[in-house]
Amino acid sequence: MRLLSRKATCNSHGQDSSYFLGWQEYEKNPFDEITNPKGIIQMGLAENQLSFDLLESWLTKNPDAAGFKSEGESIFRQLALFQDYHGFPAFKNAFVEFMSEIRGNKVSFDPSHLVLTAGATSANETLMFCLAEPGEAFLLPTPYYPGFDRDLKWRTGVEIVPIQCTSSNAFQITEAALLDAYQEAQNRNLRVKGVLVTNPSNPLGTTMTRNELNLLVSFIEAKGIHLISDEIYSGTVFSSPDFVSVMEILKARNYENTDVWNRVHLVNSLSKDLGLPGFRVGAIYSNDDMVVSAATKMSSFGLVSSQTQYLLSAMLSDKKFTKKYIFENQKRLRQRHRMLVSGLEKAGIKCLNSNAGLFCWVDMRHLLKSNTFEAEMELWKNIVYDVKLNISPGSSCHCTEPGWFRVCFANMSEETLELAMQRLKAFVTEYSSTVLGQNMSSSHQSIKNSRRRSITKWVFRLSFDDGRDREPDQR
Ligand SMILES: Cc1ncc(COP(=O)(O)O)c(C=O)c1O
Repeated sequence: MRLLSRKATCNSHGQDSSYFLGWQEYEKNPFDEITNPKGIIQMGLAENQLSFDLLESWLTKNPDAAGFKSEGESIFRQLALFQDYHGFPAFKNAFVEFMSEIRGNKVSFDPSHLVLTAGATSANETLMFCLAEPGEAFLLPTPYYPGFDRDLKWRTGVEIVPIQCTSSNAFQITEAALLDAYQEAQNRNLRVKGVLVTNPSNPLGTTMTRNELNLLVSFIEAKGIHLISDEIYSGTVFSSPDFVSVMEILKARNYENTDVWNRVHLVNSLSKDLGLPGFRVGAIYSNDDMVVSAATKMSSFGLVSSQTQYLLSAMLSDKKFTKKYIFENQKRLRQRHRMLVSGLEKAGIKCLNSNAGLFCWVDMRHLLKSNTFEAEMELWKNIVYDVKLNISPGSSCHCTEPGWFRVCFANMSEETLELAMQRLKAFVTEYSSTVLGQNMSSSHQSIKNSRRRSITKWVFRLSFDDGRDREPDQR
């Protein structure tokens, strides 16, 4: 007799997708410049490590905040005691002001509409619990963040129906795609409760256009459903066009205090904009009082700790610091993005034009043996196991076209990114000629062998290019 629940033993959390499998491979053999220079470089993790020095310098200048002190006096006991689930008012104030600042102060937010959660993961799941019953559906444009299969569906029983977007218009949402998804849900007897988008998009790294946002607002208005805008990457917009929040669109349409206004909900987090995923700070912002009230009660299951709120309320209230941080962080992201794009170009690889996020949406369709997801998986395995780069295949993001990959650029040093690009370039040169070119008719084994030999060769060469006098491993 099974003693565990169906939830505990089912597979619908999506942890077995190639997105997470790549992480597992990385864990077995992680790259380290000194101790494991031939290990797997992690390019499948959307972390922002580019601006830690700014945060650290703020901490040095403000020792009270992290030392649980206020004006030199310890407040340890206050912080250690139980907090209710409404969150610290000072922190919520600072958080909403930070949100406004990121949006160019074109919109303002009322802290009483903000619900703190343990990261955007918890915010998204909580919204599902508030807005839908098990078996009801949300429409999501593809490609989408692979974690959504776990966050939106697993514990809630909610279904995701994809809005199929394609490269023909840079993966933008169209009215036809929205209507098709709605119809598809109906064909599956699923009641549609809303649309969830990420703006800027993970994995595309693009901001939504005003046209798309207006289309979405009109769609949810016509269908009488919700819109969730996960704006976790709002602070990462590093070049034009500027970020436009759906709240700005509602304001421009004079929708404040209308039905639609109450059906639009934002998700935010400090995991990407401040690069603090370990602190677990997220938030729901909703115009609907009932949603705010229910989500606040549910937030008991994933509160943000008192000391984190205390520390970050001091940091985010320092306007001079936040202004400088946002500006400098975006500048660094822009430089990094440029570095990745030009490194890929040298390997003959293009990516979708993008202006935000911690990754690029990379087009490797020309490297596929056939236009199939099997071929995409084969190429991905080559890149993970032979080239030793963990990138995320488009299929794990539910992309409908094989050959796209998400490649992260902000979770490593410049030197590591450079090495990754050198490895990729050497691989593409070799792979194009031996596998896609003249050797196509050879047996699989001989292709593998020739690739192994050549890979040993370029790993050897890179060790020297690197300028470090380390003996290459030739076993
Ligand atoms: C679009 C999106 N939403 C939510 C999350 C989860 O973020 P958090 O670390 O704040 O839970 C991520 C993380 O990568 C994400 O990309």
